Amino acid sequence: MPQTVPRPWLDPARALAPSLVRWRRHIHQHPELSFHEVETAQYIANELRLMGLEPQHILPNAVIAEVGDAGRGPTIALRADIDALPISEETGLPFASLTPGVMHACGHDGHTAILLGVARLLADQRENIPGRIRLLFQPAEEIPPGGAEQLIAAGVLNGVSAIAGLHLWSPLPSGTAAAIPGPAMAASDRFTITIQGRGGHGAMPHRCIDALETASRIVVALQSIVSRSVDPLDAAVVTVGRFSSGTAFNVIAGEAVLEGTVRTLREEVRTLVRERLHTVVEHTAASASARADIEYIEGDPAVQNDPGVTAIVADIAEEHLGGGAIRSGPPEMAAEDFACYLQHVPGSFLLLGTANEHRHSTFPHHHPQFTIDEDVMPVGVSILTETAYRLLERFAS
Ligand code: NI
Repeated sequence: MPQTVPRPWLDPARALAPSLVRWRRHIHQHPELSFHEVETAQYIANELRLMGLEPQHILPNAVIAEVGDAGRGPTIALRADIDALPISEETGLPFASLTPGVMHACGHDGHTAILLGVARLLADQRENIPGRIRLLFQPAEEIPPGGAEQLIAAGVLNGVSAIAGLHLWSPLPSGTAAAIPGPAMAASDRFTITIQGRGGHGAMPHRCIDALETASRIVVALQSIVSRSVDPLDAAVVTVGRFSSGTAFNVIAGEAVLEGTVRTLREEVRTLVRERLHTVVEHTAASASARADIEYIEGDPAVQNDPGVTAIVADIAEEHLGGGAIRSGPPEMAAEDFACYLQHVPGSFLLLGTANEHRHSTFPHHHPQFTIDEDVMPVGVSILTETAYRLLERFAS
């Protein structure tokens, strides 16, 4: 019989708090960059073995573990990302990174601890689980194409009916969450534009093709894509984040390089922005007799949360955090490679608030002083565990 009240996960999850803190701080202190999470994966696998589970190193830097029995029901996947960032930590915390220049500045240490907590609760229930729950400890979320694509290629979605995951989210206060149906996080593309002109004497512009001046006009012209070409009811971002050109104050630059990112929520808009970017760049360069080379790399697609699964996750989050604590929008323009799983199976990605002044956890993600509110972790464990159970019921045939 489907249950409509939360199973009693929250008290056992709260009892796990010391373990959650220990796991999270160990991982925080020993961060590893995307694609290099070998020791992190070993640590996770050891902890899983201590719970009596049988972790598999599906890649040297990835771990999966299964609990339950596919003979009893469907298979549900839960995912945590385990990689850190090339950032020098400035939190001053006693358990700060011991690796110079590398830091868990996105909360993936917390996600890993939470999924270990879920594993701990499920290990106690392994004989009673009405199906199978596959836990994915995924590397390389931060660099597309990343770990999600690798795990999918390795077969982790085989037999999976639905998937869920969460991100600790510092734009939201602790005790709140966002379960957003449909497009929830943006597709993220990357471009590099190289303008070739003809350099020369700063006093003789008529004998040169000024790449710096042309690139400047391109930066300005690119702003018209969102403001003039994209439907105002659609969301899009075109950001030029890097501009390099020139060698001296009295020399006209022969080359300029621009790098930037495009964020969109719908594939049609993604294609439109890409096409407009090419047109604007090529025509602006041609108007100056300069040449433009464009390298455009498609990154993660948008996170498309399944509405049915998201309604289940929203109910569970509300049962834990109370009515009024759950947002259903607006979407975020940040990206997540959880999107890759959602191209294959229905699922939902929850944003769990972690901003708390008393815990100094209000800094933005990827900031050198970023940290999480550890008190949120038990709620995350309970929400994810109950989500797995309710999805097992939902997808039981
Ligand atoms: Ni992240």
